Amino acid sequence: MTIHIGAAAGEIAETVLLPGDPYRAKWIAETFLTAPRLVNEVRGMLGYTGTWNGHAVTVHGSGMGMPSLSIYANELIRDYGAKTLIRVGSCGAMQDKVALRDIILAMAASTLSTPSRGILREIDFAPAANWQLLRGAADAAEARGATYHVGGIYSSDVFYDERPDLSEIMTRHGILGVEMEAAELYTLAARHGVRALAVLTVSDQLMTGEALSSADRERGFADMVEIALAAAFA
Ligand code: HPA
Repeated sequence: MTIHIGAAAGEIAETVLLPGDPYRAKWIAETFLTAPRLVNEVRGMLGYTGTWNGHAVTVHGSGMGMPSLSIYANELIRDYGAKTLIRVGSCGAMQDKVALRDIILAMAASTLSTPSRGILREIDFAPAANWQLLRGAADAAEARGATYHVGGIYSSDVFYDERPDLSEIMTRHGILGVEMEAAELYTLAARHGVRALAVLTVSDQLMTGEALSSADRERGFADMVEIALAAAFA
């Protein structure tokens, strides 16, 4: 047990999918895993462990934003020995060519700040995905005929952004989409020598103002989860 995770030693798999929403973790576990069992519910942050194609997999909520993800990722890696961490979540598209329901494989995650800022200080560290996972995810997306994009994303600390100029600069620098967790996940993975990737579904198009309905979100999420699982064991 850790401060935020009630699982016993050995109850967390080396491969962990990290949706932001704990109820999404429940849905993923019940939809994709064989014999999922609840291994954490501290603070309502649900975690499940089961198997996928015979491989042990944990699905655990990360919460929203980098400070929350940082707590769970630190404990999963340092206390439970997680070796492969894949964020599955939604993002807002920041390019015209990226449409609703498209999948973004985040090669790198730019940010203004992460919880690691206090350690990295003046260093402009470049949080990057694990190449093996990224290649596996691209192959899986290709095989499924999914529309996907590989490139940089922006991990923001705010959903309600009062600085539209920042988004405009990100768009001008080719950033594909915005979410709120990947940069810290990639930084922690680098620090601890483990593998990380973010597989994202576009839930809103910031250039046009379009957004997915909740039913559409569910369908998009299924593709993303299958791509993430295939990448983990490629
Ligand atoms: N901003 C931040 N995170 C998000 C967004 C957004 O517009 N859409 C989905 N996740």
